[in-house]
Amino acid sequence: MSRMWRYFLLYLARKAGRYRTLLLAILMICLCLGFFVLMLRLLRRSHVRPKAAQLSVYLTPGDVTPAGAEAYARGWVGFPSLHSKVNCSQAITSPRRNFMYPQTVPRATSGDILKQCRNNCKAFAENNGFNRYPRVTKEELRFPIAFIILFHQDLDQVLFLLRAIYRPHNVYCLSVDLSASQVLIEATLAVSSCLQNVFVASKLENIVYAGFSRLMADVHCMSDLLSHKVKWNYVINMPGQQFPLKTNLEMVQILKLYNGANDVLGDIRSRYVPRRYLFKHHVMMEKNSSIPTVAETMHLNRPPPHGFRIVKGSAYNTLSRAFVEMVLQHPWVKDLIHWSRDVESPDEYLWATLNHASDMVVPGSFKDVPENKPWLTSYTVWQGSAKCVSKFVRWICIFSPGDLPQLVAQPHLFANKFYIDHHPAGLHCLDQYVYNLSVTGTVRALDYYRTLPFLVPFNDFDN
Ligand SMILES: *[C@@H]1O[C@H](CO)[C@@H](O)[C@H](O)[C@H]1NC(C)=O
Ligand SMILES: *[C@@H]1O[C@H](CO)[C@@H](O)[C@H](O)[C@H]1NC(C)=O
Ligand SMILES: *[C@@H]1O[C@H](CO)[C@@H](O)[C@H](O)[C@H]1NC(C)=O
Repeated sequence: MSRMWRYFLLYLARKAGRYRTLLLAILMICLCLGFFVLMLRLLRRSHVRPKAAQLSVYLTPGDVTPAGAEAYARGWVGFPSLHSKVNCSQAITSPRRNFMYPQTVPRATSGDILKQCRNNCKAFAENNGFNRYPRVTKEELRFPIAFIILFHQDLDQVLFLLRAIYRPHNVYCLSVDLSASQVLIEATLAVSSCLQNVFVASKLENIVYAGFSRLMADVHCMSDLLSHKVKWNYVINMPGQQFPLKTNLEMVQILKLYNGANDVLGDIRSRYVPRRYLFKHHVMMEKNSSIPTVAETMHLNRPPPHGFRIVKGSAYNTLSRAFVEMVLQHPWVKDLIHWSRDVESPDEYLWATLNHASDMVVPGSFKDVPENKPWLTSYTVWQGSAKCVSKFVRWICIFSPGDLPQLVAQPHLFANKFYIDHHPAGLHCLDQYVYNLSVTGTVRALDYYRTLPFLVPFNDFDN
């Protein structure tokens, strides 16, 4: 056996001797090919961003990570730098003067956030407290909510808001303005690939204030949300400067009472501003400015299609799934959206007009006089309407600690607006307040919501 083997080897060696050059050539070709493939791979790697999605964390509703006391100890509630400095129980009931609270908090830049997400999604989620939520109840699990957040700056404030409303069974669409900085957009994408139920809208807009693009940003998110695997019951849209006044459980119980009704602001009297749709508007570049704006032209707009009566409302609403399904499919609504191109602030007309349409069956709509109902999606203090402790920007109050007692007494789901760099103790304490209610599973009185005029009545046979 061993002899045969030796002969065979000798034979091979002789053959190899004869074909030495050929073998050498084959070896060289193999080496070259290997080298080429390696270079190709290296090149590809430098072009493709690391896929954070592969690392994305799957938090589950049962992941009761250290909620409550330990969440506080790990700096997951409010701003860590304010913990020892602000007594929030006292600030909520009888706030001191605004200047007596710390005026700034350390900020995280978009670059910081991007780095955290790319390094390690799990660490990002944990360090930022995305797993601080208490165990999600069965009732909440059966009633997922979709949220849309629109923003163009202050990603750290957006994350502060997102953490407050974050639950692993809900779904979140982030619509980042394409005119935001490149690094902010990249960081937003990185955040979304770290959290499994958070995504960036499939289509982003270069948003012009008061323009058609602002409306479309919400429409894109809604359309993405309809095809998302989470079968949400309601969608609530908001800007990054909003903050919740209710816990997730409270929102679920309130929305269940709505019973399919939409909560949409409607106004045909005082703040109606018909010029905004009677005349055509165009996006223009203002003199001396690089920022495009919407300007009124002298041309009359066409009348609205299909005899729609135009109602003014707000961009921010609470809409039932059935409403959104209809809106994105109905040909009349397509026409109305098309007509809205020439309207100033069409986001403040479209949802209100649909929710009060009379010639069309609209799920969850309101048939009575639009003003005969409250609007509870977002609590905003307009200049002249109520007290604002610190300041108004564009006629809207920027909330501060001094506003907290009035804020926590409101029936609204959210409050608008906060600036992270303007008396941040306000945001800090509101986060503590709502978080404490979440941890204890507290649901405050719901009687007010049972008698709202816009509810869809429960069918008596169901009871
Ligand atoms: C915070 O304020 C409340 C009520 O004003 C008071 O009872 C409590 O002792 C204070 N907590 C701390 C840690 O000072
Ligand atoms: C535009 O800028 C120039 C110089 O900066 C200034 O003199 C002019 O008044 C500005 N025009 C308007 C309309 O603001
Ligand atoms: C929330 O709970 C923490 C810890 O139990 C407590 O220290 C804090 O004062 C509470 N904050 C509010 C606003 O109730």
